[in-house]
Amino acid sequence: MILRAASPPRRAIVRERAAARRIVAAATMVATSCAYAAWPDQNALRPAGIQALRIVSLWHWTLLVCGLVFAAVLTALAVALWRRAPASTASPGQDDRLLPPDPLRARRATRVTRAATVVSVVVLSGLIIADVLTDRALSRLPVTDALYIEMTGHQWWWDVRYPGDGDGGFATANELHVPVGRPVIVSLKAADVIHTFWAPNLHGKKDMIPGRDATIAFRVDKPGTYRGQCAEYCGLEHALMAFIVVAEPQAQFDAWLAQQRRPAGNPTASFADAGRRVFVAGACATCHTVRGTPASGTLGPDLTHVMSRSMLAAGTFPNDRAHLARWLRAPGTLKPGTTMPASTLSPMEQQAVIAWLETLR
Ligand code: CUA
Repeated sequence: MILRAASPPRRAIVRERAAARRIVAAATMVATSCAYAAWPDQNALRPAGIQALRIVSLWHWTLLVCGLVFAAVLTALAVALWRRAPASTASPGQDDRLLPPDPLRARRATRVTRAATVVSVVVLSGLIIADVLTDRALSRLPVTDALYIEMTGHQWWWDVRYPGDGDGGFATANELHVPVGRPVIVSLKAADVIHTFWAPNLHGKKDMIPGRDATIAFRVDKPGTYRGQCAEYCGLEHALMAFIVVAEPQAQFDAWLAQQRRPAGNPTASFADAGRRVFVAGACATCHTVRGTPASGTLGPDLTHVMSRSMLAAGTFPNDRAHLARWLRAPGTLKPGTTMPASTLSPMEQQAVIAWLETLR
């Protein structure tokens, strides 16, 4: 077979197409960034709780001190570079490096070096003390009457469990609801690899290591919705492993709790009911639980009240009909590497399943 090089006009077309693809990719990135901008706040510099406040004040002190040290070092360097060397006392032909040092200059240099060493030790000790004090303050959060939540990191989503008062509690996914002003203890586990819990507006990071139990305690003092993110590289979709913390007044939180505890209701529309039957009898039920139905899989998120969540697939996209349909049809196009398989259901069955999922509020 003879391979022919692309002719000049053809090469131009290939180049134009590649450029067009790059422009589309850049536009998609900008559009996605804009969409992200409208998402919940994820900012360590805007604390919403007492512990985040302590961390941010430590950060401001560290920034100030290190900034001043950096400026001082640069100034000393600039002075050393620009200061004129003293006139040499060496006679012609003599190497002035062999002359004995000027005792006055040597004493001054020793004094300056000693002073700089003392200042460095004092500054570094100050930062270490501030660090230790902050750490102690973080661990001293009063936790009487704390709300207890269990969170397990999976590749790449978060299982969230609220233990009940004798009723076994309930599970949800990728979204924590907490009452404002009340301490929260989150028990952290990892199902597969190391993940890290991090909600920057609320607290620092805490590793989730398989086989090791850890807890993090925090209190949210400002009502709002905050974004958290897995902060330990955990595989292909590490970047798309986010969660949301909704901090609301106690009454609102109690209403949410009561609503989440309820099992899924029976759909009234026959199309949605057909979707329920497809879901329960098919592959969906082997991975997902919907309380109140025979679907009791535990490999994927609990979907009992999936429509009450604002985002899907661990904060990857908004929870709406269009995204849900695409997620069912081709999950890999929204989150490459996801363990959610593409649906083998017919288009009509997929529509029915979506109609049923939309009733799970
Ligand atoms: Cu989980 Cu990174």
